[in-house]
Amino acid sequence: MGVFFPLNNAMPRKILVTSALPYANGSIHLGHLVEYIQTDIWVRFQKMRGNECWYVCADDTHGTPIMLRAEKEGVTPEALIDRVHGEHARDFAGFGVKFDHYDSTNSPETRQFCELFYQRLKAAGLIETRTIEQFYDPVKAMFLPDRFIKGECPKCGARDQYGDNCEACGAAYTPTELKNPYSAVSGAKPELKHSEHYFFKLSDPRCESFLRQYTRHAEGRLQLEAANKMQEWLGEPGEHKLTDWDISRDAPYFGFEIPDAPGKYFYVWLDAPIGYMGSFKNLCAQKGLDFDDYFKPDSDAELYHFIGKDILYFHALFWPAELAHAGFRTPTSIFAHGFLTVDGAKMSKSRGTFITAESYLQQGLNPEWLRYYFAGKLTNTLEDLDLNLEDFVARVNSDLIGKYVNIASRAAGFISKRFDGKLTEADAGLPALLAITEAAPRVAELYEAREFGKAMREIMALADLANQYVDSVKPWELAKQAGKETELHLACSNSLNLFRLLTALLKPVLPAVAEKAEAFLNIAPLAWADTTTRLPAGHRINAYSHLMIRIDPKQVAALVDANKESMNPPAPAKPAAATTETSTENATLSIDDFMKVDLRVARIVSASPVEGADKLVRLMLDIGEDKPRQVFAGIKSAYDPAALQGRLTVMVANLAPRKMKFGLSEGMVLAASDETGKTGGLYILSPDSGATAGMRIK
Ligand code: 2FM
Ligand code: ZN
Repeated sequence: MGVFFPLNNAMPRKILVTSALPYANGSIHLGHLVEYIQTDIWVRFQKMRGNECWYVCADDTHGTPIMLRAEKEGVTPEALIDRVHGEHARDFAGFGVKFDHYDSTNSPETRQFCELFYQRLKAAGLIETRTIEQFYDPVKAMFLPDRFIKGECPKCGARDQYGDNCEACGAAYTPTELKNPYSAVSGAKPELKHSEHYFFKLSDPRCESFLRQYTRHAEGRLQLEAANKMQEWLGEPGEHKLTDWDISRDAPYFGFEIPDAPGKYFYVWLDAPIGYMGSFKNLCAQKGLDFDDYFKPDSDAELYHFIGKDILYFHALFWPAELAHAGFRTPTSIFAHGFLTVDGAKMSKSRGTFITAESYLQQGLNPEWLRYYFAGKLTNTLEDLDLNLEDFVARVNSDLIGKYVNIASRAAGFISKRFDGKLTEADAGLPALLAITEAAPRVAELYEAREFGKAMREIMALADLANQYVDSVKPWELAKQAGKETELHLACSNSLNLFRLLTALLKPVLPAVAEKAEAFLNIAPLAWADTTTRLPAGHRINAYSHLMIRIDPKQVAALVDANKESMNPPAPAKPAAATTETSTENATLSIDDFMKVDLRVARIVSASPVEGADKLVRLMLDIGEDKPRQVFAGIKSAYDPAALQGRLTVMVANLAPRKMKFGLSEGMVLAASDETGKTGGLYILSPDSGATAGMRIK
């Protein structure tokens, strides 16, 4: 990379670091944590080096999905984002991810910056309005984002594909190309409507020439793979591949209204990265920092964004182009990482590998096990990384417990019991101690370069040396022999010095263990410079208490089980004896019993006749889950299947699935009928207009 920062610079560097802002409508899961843990390790390392390093983040709170989610939950978007903010803060703290400030994009600071960007870009002639044609949901009275339009793939005909690409054949298209499109919000047939939108003129020659330069690998801002991708998107000079970016959305929208355009809002992706600045602005107010010092065009502070490779386009093209033309500095580097797989496959709810941060902590697993495992797998490339659950158990137990913690546990007891907790001076020429001190600058370079996997391997090789030393002097045998007090004292003091140095090297990854180790060693918080020092003779340690225990594979199995989204809802609780004795005839029902029935608004995605079953219709029902449910309903006598498609109805969602000759029936739709049989009619239920698929009925 072209940008080089000397590691032994006497002047502390000024560094501002961000991780991508998580959306405020979902839970933090292990996929997110790869990024936050990666960033947190890097930031902790910078702080240990004595640099002025700030880590800010925020919830990404705007946009249609959040607006609709709040509506579905029957709360205001503000109430939803407040609640989720608390959940996210809890999960991050639980994993030791320590932001200097965690904000929300729905803040006055972010709003002010959005307006400032808009004014400045407009003054620079880089904002343009244009009328576009877009799908509109006449029932919900709103324009539909591509992900909220579904229909049949124009290429392969697969049903229920999103408006941007087909999951069955991979084809990419525009929503207007879908066959039989419907609104995923109301089920209504969308209409094409015109609307005026605001565009950021990325195609302007000023933006293009700036980006051609900015994204070159030699500039040191982008990883090679990322730089290549950007150059591909930019195309050859003269190809004019960059198109203008639509930065506005029409009401109803949860976001910031554009100052001079009532009813028009800034698109969530415009305000999200500006949220980095809003969050930092708030931190500046708290700490008395000078915001401009970090964001003026010629700032000597460094600015880094850690992101997933899927959002490079926003961070490496739109964002620097906006910053450069609104009079701000641009990012020093953008660090993209790959995706997380679990046991070699995409995280999956049905396999239980879509693991939330909350469930991991609730199951009592130690967050530092995961921090260490991720660190061991992280590189500075865009490659995906795999959490292999068996390897996770093996690696943590062998490295952290077997190699690292063991050193302290084998030496500390003797120091406390036999030497009144006091150390003797370590052996100045001890090869293992010298090796660690000598390796520390190399480990620092690996941390700096985000080659955490290599750093962990280097540290574990040093831990091996330390263990070889302990095994060679055998304190437990010295302790049994008379007249070996001096040898025992030196052996244990050397061991604890080795342990202290290894703790310093691992501290960015294992902050909680390091803190416990500092408490038991009775030392001030370790800084990187401590890798060259030793504990003085006479230093008194505190009693040793367990630093970390082994993982039991059963805990991992329980975690996977807890995350399994079951197709078989839990069996209803057995009725209490008293209820069983009561006649069920005309019996009243407690509200609790009624609430056990999970009634949902369901959208009939498709309805088809069932071969060999005259009375049945095969319904595919969308109740807001990942996949529609299949239900066989005996309504053929009353309904032509083709007429049912797109309708909303009511289903019981937590009936135990029933295996039928034709396939699994995963619920029941409700229908009214005249039991006297006089009319013979059958009427499926429909909710009032405005209800949407997945709503709970109570
Ligand atoms: O992809 C996402 O999850 C976005 N919420 C990330 C936003 S990062 C930044 F631009 F704010
Ligand atoms: Zn297709």
